[in-house]
Amino acid sequence: MNTYKTSFIIFLFCTLVCYTIAKNDQKNAKKNYIILNHAADDVDTSDDEKATATHKAMLSTVAKDADSRLLYSYNKVVNGFAAKLSDDEVQAMEKHPLFVRAIPADKPYQLLTTHSPDFLQLRGSSGLWQRTKNMGEGVIVGVLDTGATPGHPSFDDTGMPPPPKKWKGHCDFNKTACNNKLIGAKSFLKAGAEELKHLPPIDNNEHGTHTACTAVGAPVKNIDMLGLAMGEASGTAPRAHLAVYRVCTGQACESPDIFKGIEEAVNDGCDVISLSLGIDGALPFYMDPVALGGFYAILKGVFVSTAAGNSGPNATTISNYAPWLLTVAASTTDRHISSSVKLGNGLVFNGESLYQPKNWTSTMLPVVYLLGSASKCVNGTLDSNQVRGKIVVCDRGVNGRVEKGKVVLEAGGSGMILVNQQEDASSTNADFHVLPVSHVSYADGNKIKDYIRSTKQSTATFLFKGVEFNAPNAPSIAAFSSRGPSVVSPMIIKPDIAGPGVSVLAGVPPMTLPTQNTTIQFNFLSGTSMATPHLSGIAALIKKEHPDWSPAAIRSAMMTTADTTNMEGKPIIDQSGLPADVFAMGNGQVNPNKAMDPGLVYDLAPEDYINYLCGIGYKDKDVNAIIFPAPPVECAKVNATSEEQLNYPSIAVPLQSPIKTILRTVTNVGEAGASYKAVMTVPKGISIEVVPPTLTFKSLNEKQSFKITVKRLGVPVPKIMAGELKWVSAKHSVRSPIAIRA
Ligand SMILES: *[C@@H]1O[C@H](CO)[C@@H](O)[C@H](O)[C@H]1NC(C)=O
Ligand SMILES: *[C@@H]1O[C@H](CO)[C@@H](O)[C@H](O)[C@H]1NC(C)=O
Ligand SMILES: *[C@@H]1O[C@H](CO)[C@@H](O)[C@H](O)[C@H]1NC(C)=O
Ligand SMILES: *[C@@H]1O[C@H](CO)[C@@H](O)[C@H](O)[C@H]1NC(C)=O
Ligand SMILES: *[C@@H]1O[C@H](CO)[C@@H](O)[C@H](O)[C@H]1NC(C)=O
Ligand SMILES: *[C@@H]1O[C@H](CO)[C@@H](O)[C@H](O)[C@H]1NC(C)=O
Repeated sequence: MNTYKTSFIIFLFCTLVCYTIAKNDQKNAKKNYIILNHAADDVDTSDDEKATATHKAMLSTVAKDADSRLLYSYNKVVNGFAAKLSDDEVQAMEKHPLFVRAIPADKPYQLLTTHSPDFLQLRGSSGLWQRTKNMGEGVIVGVLDTGATPGHPSFDDTGMPPPPKKWKGHCDFNKTACNNKLIGAKSFLKAGAEELKHLPPIDNNEHGTHTACTAVGAPVKNIDMLGLAMGEASGTAPRAHLAVYRVCTGQACESPDIFKGIEEAVNDGCDVISLSLGIDGALPFYMDPVALGGFYAILKGVFVSTAAGNSGPNATTISNYAPWLLTVAASTTDRHISSSVKLGNGLVFNGESLYQPKNWTSTMLPVVYLLGSASKCVNGTLDSNQVRGKIVVCDRGVNGRVEKGKVVLEAGGSGMILVNQQEDASSTNADFHVLPVSHVSYADGNKIKDYIRSTKQSTATFLFKGVEFNAPNAPSIAAFSSRGPSVVSPMIIKPDIAGPGVSVLAGVPPMTLPTQNTTIQFNFLSGTSMATPHLSGIAALIKKEHPDWSPAAIRSAMMTTADTTNMEGKPIIDQSGLPADVFAMGNGQVNPNKAMDPGLVYDLAPEDYINYLCGIGYKDKDVNAIIFPAPPVECAKVNATSEEQLNYPSIAVPLQSPIKTILRTVTNVGEAGASYKAVMTVPKGISIEVVPPTLTFKSLNEKQSFKITVKRLGVPVPKIMAGELKWVSAKHSVRSPIAIRA
């Protein structure tokens, strides 16, 4: 009784005191914050020292050790700074006259990973590189990522000229590693863990080298992967210069570091910035470092290509949705590393694996699908007596794809059929497995399981056919690719465009595969991370062809010329097998040849975005934090526009009332004297009128405006309807999808 009482009291005491201590600890715990300050007219963007002194003075009003707390001072991308602060200190700082907003920066951005040049028709005598003699020469692409592998064959600079005079950056590698290809390399890692702060910009992940090679990698011929001939790997702009900014370690990229990286990349003189990273959840633009940094970039004429995210296929999972960014979805390519399954009943299913043993004899072996926890082939769940000498069916999920194979091998199995979950649908991967494997779709997996259940003597084998360029339905939108619209601005259709993002082959740091007894310098990776640098490279090609085009004009050129049909001429589909909608693929699959010569563009200047920001109801102080260093505005005095009226190359129509009119303006970048006719696809229950229905341009760079009037015909209509508007001339077809929300 006595003991009970004592322990009860102690327990109670601890509950109160410990709780209070914990709470205080939490309040005093210091987290990374980005502090946005008022963007007063007198902020000098050229005087870094003065800005840092101002920021330190502000910081020292709440913290004695301002010097050690300050991570970065920003005076170009925004007026503000990043620092380690407690919640109490942030609260105290709110009283400072310069304070606008504190952005918590404790949730890192993630890298978005999970044969493309031939597929995009850049190569060959009729390909873009030959036809236009444009391989991105003189254009500088900045890649914010995990760094790069110095000395990689994809960064060979044979035949490359020195960087253009405007280049102000530097390369933190030694002389032999830095060359006319790899002209810049810097690390910004101050916001992360102490032991990571001083890492050089050397890639220890794969991601940074892979994305950089995909954008601007020099051509590397005759790539051999485990004995399979892969052909050539090359970036989409193989003669563009590369500057890498390391802002990520492992999978994590801290937002104060990303923010500084964007500021540096713009100031160093990059023409294009490639960002294959994102964060889940919707942030308003003034809380989102990529949106804030991206605005500074476009203000300086720098194109920003970003990843849509890998959180698909559910709606409104999109990241990087600001209308001044290019948002890239991921599609499949036609390359397939074929490893098929042949069943005892004669049925054959196409699958993939990169491990294709030469000595495989294709004898039929018993095949099993174990129930319960063993169905996923997690370590410790397989009974050797049930799998020895057999092919084992393993469902995806819980543990890694390659690990499942190891588990099967360790338990004595002879092979594995790796089956997608429903949400993975038909997206398969060519992985470095350790035993014979075929990775098959969800639908095919079900048929294989049906067969196993139907007979006592089920058997199967694998048929290895190596590299094939006939994958069905290519390109199709990957299941993982995040879907729009954004909840922040639903009347801007996002993503904008799709590019190759499934099993993309590109350079990686040299890796030894112990199980294969070989070292590789190229690898297949998947994700919107891989799609994004394809578009960054293509933006570099357009920039080379049209140096005076704005970032919005470059984006418009890509979007209005994108393909909506696949290689077989059928509509591009998504993982469900049905045609992909605008919230999966935006305007469609990028077509670089056509994007060079779009005929018309939907152009946007920074002030159009300012009118838009005022139009979505942001407060003056938030608008001004975003648009800095553009002069501050008062929203009451600008022509605020509602989001659907932003001159975007895709058109969303909110049809709450029976009739809605949308305005757009096109600029003639084709030829003088061209005449365009409006051709429309109109959904049932709706009418669309375009006025004027014909646009004739006397001169180049002439602008003409038109009105699109959408009316309900009084019959019931679905909530979302799809149509399109094409301006068609003798030479060009300028397409905008229309999404109508009733
Ligand atoms: C420079 O870097 C290259 C590539 O990483 C390396 O092979 C070489 O040894 C380095 N040279 C010096 C002097 O550090
Ligand atoms: C995606 O949507 C489906 C169906 O609406 C839902 O069951 C599922 O939980 C969603 N997934 C996520 C990750 O939100
Ligand atoms: C095939 O070769 C691999 C390694 O080269 C070996 O481990 C395996 O036992 C061989 N299989 C057969 C059936 O000979
Ligand atoms: C499975 O677990 C055993 C025992 O812990 C371990 O030795 C083995 O490496 C594990 N296998 C895999 C593929 O993780
Ligand atoms: C690994 O490869 C090397 C060179 O190709 C060869 O000499 C060696 O025998 C191989 N080792 C094994 C374990 O297969
Ligand atoms: C707003 O639009 C009107 C009409 O186009 C124009 O005359 C006026 O100058 C604009 N105001 C601002 C602040 O841009």
